[in-house]
Amino acid sequence: EKGGYDHFMLKEIYEQPNAIKDTYRGRLGVKNGIIKMSGIDDNIEKFLNANRIIVVACGTSWHAGLVAEYIFEDLARIPVEVEYASEFRYRNPVITEKDVVIAISQSGETADTLAAIKLAKSKGAFVFGVCNVVGSSIARETHAGAYTHAGPEIGVASTKAFTTQITVLTLIALKLAKETGKINNTDYRYHLQELDLIPQKVVESLKSDSHIQMIADTYKNARNFLYLGRGYNFPVALEGALKLKEISYIHAEGYPAAEMKHGPIALIDEQMPVVVIATKKGHYDKIVSNIQEIKSRKGRIIGVVTEGDTSVKELVDHIIEVPETLESLTPLLTTIPLQLLSYHIAVMLNKNVDQPRNLAKSVTVE
Ligand code: M6R
Repeated sequence: EKGGYDHFMLKEIYEQPNAIKDTYRGRLGVKNGIIKMSGIDDNIEKFLNANRIIVVACGTSWHAGLVAEYIFEDLARIPVEVEYASEFRYRNPVITEKDVVIAISQSGETADTLAAIKLAKSKGAFVFGVCNVVGSSIARETHAGAYTHAGPEIGVASTKAFTTQITVLTLIALKLAKETGKINNTDYRYHLQELDLIPQKVVESLKSDSHIQMIADTYKNARNFLYLGRGYNFPVALEGALKLKEISYIHAEGYPAAEMKHGPIALIDEQMPVVVIATKKGHYDKIVSNIQEIKSRKGRIIGVVTEGDTSVKELVDHIIEVPETLESLTPLLTTIPLQLLSYHIAVMLNKNVDQPRNLAKSVTVE
C-alpha cells in the first residue's frame, strides 16, 4: 500500500507531480485560455462583488491560505485576510453578506474550521470550500467549493494536500483576475503555461533527494532550526518549520526574513542551521543581504535557490536548487526540498514519521 516507499509521507511527497496534474486536469485549458471551475462559475457574482475574501483554516492549510493571500492580491487585486479558524470563531469577527469566506481543509473534518464556517454562514457570508476529502463535513457545510483531487493523504504531515491546495487557489485567483480584467491577456496566458509546467519541475526538484539526505545527516542533531523566506515564500518558511517540528520534534521557527533583525537574529550562532528560501525573484537582493547578516554571525545556512544561481552559492554552506518559474508559482517548488529535509531528519532520528506523537490526521476536537 506504500507503493514501495518506506513511509506514506515519502510516497505522498513523490506523488506531488501527479497530484498537482490531477488538481488542474479538466480545469486548466492552456490552449484555449479558459479555466473551468463550476464552483466559481456558478457563483461568479459573489466573488466579483465581494468586499474582501476571508480565508479560514488551520495548520498547513492555513499556510496555503497565506500563499493564496499573496496570489489573490497580486493577480486579482482582491483584498484577502487569512485567519486561524480557531481565532476567528472565538473573537466576534466583523463579517457581512459582502464577504466571501474560503475554508481550506484537507480532511474536511477539522472542528475549528467547521465552526468558523458555521459562524460565517450565520452572518450571511458566502462560504466556499477547498477540501480534499470528497463528501467530508466541510465539503457539505459550504455553499460551493473545489476539491483538490490529491488522492488520499495518509501521513499525518500534510504534503501533497498543501501543494494541491495552492494549485486550486492559484486557478481561482487567475480566473478572478481574468474576469475582473486585472491581469492582461499575455500575463494570464503565461501563467497558465507556467502552471502546466509545474508537475515536471516538481519532478526536477525531487531529484535533490539524495543531496538533501546528506544535509539532513549533517544537521539531524541540531536543537533548533530557523526558516526564512520573503513574499510568496514567507508562508513556505512557516510550512517548512511546521513540518520539521511535527515529525522530528526539533524546535523550528519560520520567519519573514526581514523580521529577523527585530529579534530572532539574537539566536544565531554556529549551532543554528538557517534554511533560507532565496529564489531569484521578487526580493532577491534583500534576501541576499539577509543571508550576509546570518553569515556574519556564523549561522549555518542552507539556501534554496533558483537553478544556476551563483551569488547565494558563495555565501551559504549548502545549496538546494529548484527550477525557475514565475514568482507566484515558486512555493510549489520551494516547499518540496523542505518536505524532504524534515522527512529525512525524522527518519534518521527514528521517529514515527507517519504518525507523530500527540497528533491525529484530522483534529476533530476544539
Ligand atoms: O485537514 P485540515 O487541512 O483541516 O487539517 C489542518 C491541520 O490540522 C493540518 O494541516 C496539520 O497542521 C498537519 N498535520 C500539518 O502537517
